[in-house]
Amino acid sequence: LPRLAVLASGRGSNLQCLLDAIAAGQLDARIVGVFSDKPAAAALDKVAPEQRWARSPKDFADREAFDDALADALAASQPDWILCAGYMRILGAHFVQRFNGRLINIHPSLLPLHKGLHTHAQAIAGGHAEHGASVHFVVPELDAGAVIAQARVPVLPDDSAETLAKRVLAVEHPLLLASVQLLAAGRLAERGGVVQFDGQSLFSPL
Ligand code: GAR
Repeated sequence: LPRLAVLASGRGSNLQCLLDAIAAGQLDARIVGVFSDKPAAAALDKVAPEQRWARSPKDFADREAFDDALADALAASQPDWILCAGYMRILGAHFVQRFNGRLINIHPSLLPLHKGLHTHAQAIAGGHAEHGASVHFVVPELDAGAVIAQARVPVLPDDSAETLAKRVLAVEHPLLLASVQLLAAGRLAERGGVVQFDGQSLFSPL
């Protein structure tokens, strides 16, 4: 079975969605580990103790030292795919290069709009009629890698960042699951910054 490692910093509802799909026979894969920069993250409790890795970046000299420890622990779990699902810490370029082409992130915006933090507040402040989520390959530049798939929702007149986040999260789960089903089935890859589906680029050169 394809081996999935998940990076998470918080609640872990996206991780839970994948675990539920595996249990229901909808995703042929194994979660081999959950890795976190927040030792108290609820996401960690969703897997067995021997599948958890969590360290506080405060205990490391610098970003590179933390990233190296995370990368070594990840590599030891022999993942085919590494999924950032609510992982809120920037991954250094060295780390990204080590796992190049196997690192995926779900980001709560319609990329390239609203990179970084507070995406729901950004969408409201920008007066956007639509918002959503993107699953993308990770490159060293923040939230800039090739987009695999997106899901969109309306921004309603009375929305707060919280009500909008909830609407987005409801589409994140099926979006992430569909993307991971394709990855696990070997149908998606990234070549030269372009997503390939069944070995073919879906984009023609400009
Ligand atoms: C999700 O909305 C995810 O898109 C977002 O954090 C939330 C995690 O929820 N990720 C980012 O903002 C990454 N920059 P979860 O812990 O319940 O899956």
